[in-house]
Amino acid sequence: MVETLQGLKRTHMCAQLDIANVGEKVVLMGWTQRRRDLGGVIFVDLRDRTGIVQIVFDVSINKEVFEKAENIRNEYVLAVVGDVVKRDDESVNPKLKTGEIEVKVTELRILNKAETPPFYIEEDSEANEQVRLKYRYLDLRRPDMQNNLILRHKVAKIARDYFDENGFLEIETPMLTKSTPEGARDYLVPSRVHPGEFYALPQSPQLYKQLLMLSGMDRYFQIVKCFRDEDLRADRQPEFTQIDVEMSFVNVDDVLSINEKLVAKVFKETLGIELETPFLRLPYQQAMDRFGSDKPDMRFGFELIDLSDLVANTDFKVFADVVAKGGSVRAINAKNCMDQFSRRDLDGLVDFVKIYKAKGLAWIVVTENELKSPITKFFTQEQIQALLDRTQAQPGDIIMMVADKNEIVYDALGHLRIELAKRLNLIKKDEYNFLWVTEFPLLEYDEEAKRYVAKHHPFTSPMDEDIALLDSDPAKVRAKAYDIVLNGVEIGGGSIRIYNTDLQQKMFETIGFSKEEAWDRFGFLMEAFKYGTPPHGGIAYGLDRLVMLLAGKDSIRDVIAFPKVQNASELMNNAPARVDAKQLKELHIKLDV
Ligand code: AMO
Ligand code: AMP
Repeated sequence: MVETLQGLKRTHMCAQLDIANVGEKVVLMGWTQRRRDLGGVIFVDLRDRTGIVQIVFDVSINKEVFEKAENIRNEYVLAVVGDVVKRDDESVNPKLKTGEIEVKVTELRILNKAETPPFYIEEDSEANEQVRLKYRYLDLRRPDMQNNLILRHKVAKIARDYFDENGFLEIETPMLTKSTPEGARDYLVPSRVHPGEFYALPQSPQLYKQLLMLSGMDRYFQIVKCFRDEDLRADRQPEFTQIDVEMSFVNVDDVLSINEKLVAKVFKETLGIELETPFLRLPYQQAMDRFGSDKPDMRFGFELIDLSDLVANTDFKVFADVVAKGGSVRAINAKNCMDQFSRRDLDGLVDFVKIYKAKGLAWIVVTENELKSPITKFFTQEQIQALLDRTQAQPGDIIMMVADKNEIVYDALGHLRIELAKRLNLIKKDEYNFLWVTEFPLLEYDEEAKRYVAKHHPFTSPMDEDIALLDSDPAKVRAKAYDIVLNGVEIGGGSIRIYNTDLQQKMFETIGFSKEEAWDRFGFLMEAFKYGTPPHGGIAYGLDRLVMLLAGKDSIRDVIAFPKVQNASELMNNAPARVDAKQLKELHIKLDV
């Protein structure tokens, strides 16, 4: 026996009401958060997107309505007509936005019933994420999830307005496009009309936005879905959203400047936080040397210290050999940590760095009177003194060292400094540390493929002063590429692009494409470049990651309405799923599973 809306029109959202509405007759609609029956009076917390208001059924006001209200259960959908009244002083609820008032109901319609949900709809639900995702539509009733999506909407709206005000056009680009090598694995879509051929879903609109610059669109942006068949993590989804941007006639500084102003605006208008611009700009190599990471979290110290020259000629073979082979030995001074880390904790940290392929973690505990360490016996007094001086060691400190190939040293110590900061509770949740990491290497060597690959993507321009190195020492070439980093998370990245055919072709050669292969794959781009391409560059933000950080969440799943889980499936509808034989036949596909 459910009722209709016939003749009723909502006058207010639940949490819009406050003391100013006292005396008004209102019509509200929403869900039952909970019902309390005090015998003669029933209180219901009525909930909609704006929040909760208390509605009251009083047997002495209207017996019939009261009796109907006895049927109400959690999550029932109600429409009520009632009078806004001020609560008695003792029943004011300061925790509720509408806590000074309540609505005395004169008419009730039960618009729909609800089964008992698999978890209680509340802020900060303890329900397990698998269950929440299976019943995502219920999970999205929870105020924190609603706030995340409201925040996401605001960020997108601010970005749209900002780019519009600055002369950017929002232009859509195809979702069914062409698979191009480099980058992550593509999601493929079979073509029915071209048997055996496939579209790829875009990993980003990169080439299209470059072509739009060639077309004279001058400034482009798009809030756009991108698809990458990668291994998933807390900050990675197979489909995610970019705020994608491209501009003509710009240098690196122009792109950084317009974008940090956007970020500042987003922070001001969502969190009310004034960010100081310009953000710090840190060349890649310095980021690696100081923090062991190209996305350093600079909210805390524990910077890396290079000891290679000091240990190269010592009797500790582990260290000396690594340096002789071109690796390095670097340290973190864990200041004042002597009392924080027991011998067992230190063993735990040794295991921790092994996750990042380090072979060990050598440590020196500096006490008032002595050094405790498994390795000091290998060093002379002078060598140790030099090491203590370089690390500015004081009694109470622990020097932690890793010797290995540079990559491993950076990775192990880069993660160790974060681990130390976490264990010591040094990370301030409400601090927002932004920086640009610039001058990335153009290329990196792929040991498996035995060739160079583009570190960012193959359309990224080398720095003018490094172009000559493309022939002699490709690994040393720096790119006009940049990432924007917030609290140790890469929230965006981009570059100034190559805009002439010869240099683009040279780039493809350097990453091991023959001229034919390059033309086969990217011919349309190189052909286009012949017709007057302006210098251009851009950036793309991970919208999900940006909103995750604004919302103070640890996973982008919390800011995506219908996310996928680790194995790329959607728990609610069980996508991906089998399709029937007829569909496959039309697509000329035979399965081999
Ligand atoms: P890039 O590959 O660095 O650059 O991507 C830009 C930003 O997108 C976010 N991101 C992701 N977010 C969630 N899940 C994923 N799987 C995922 N992959 C990337 C990151 C990243 O910084 N076309 C270039 C941009 C350009 O050069 O203009 C590009 O796509 O926050
Ligand atoms: P070993 O002589 O191999 O027992 O190592 C002595 C100490 O050096 C131990 O504390 C190891 O954890 C540490 N150690 C070994 N290899 C490395 C390495 N590559 N980098 C840093 N410390 C190491």
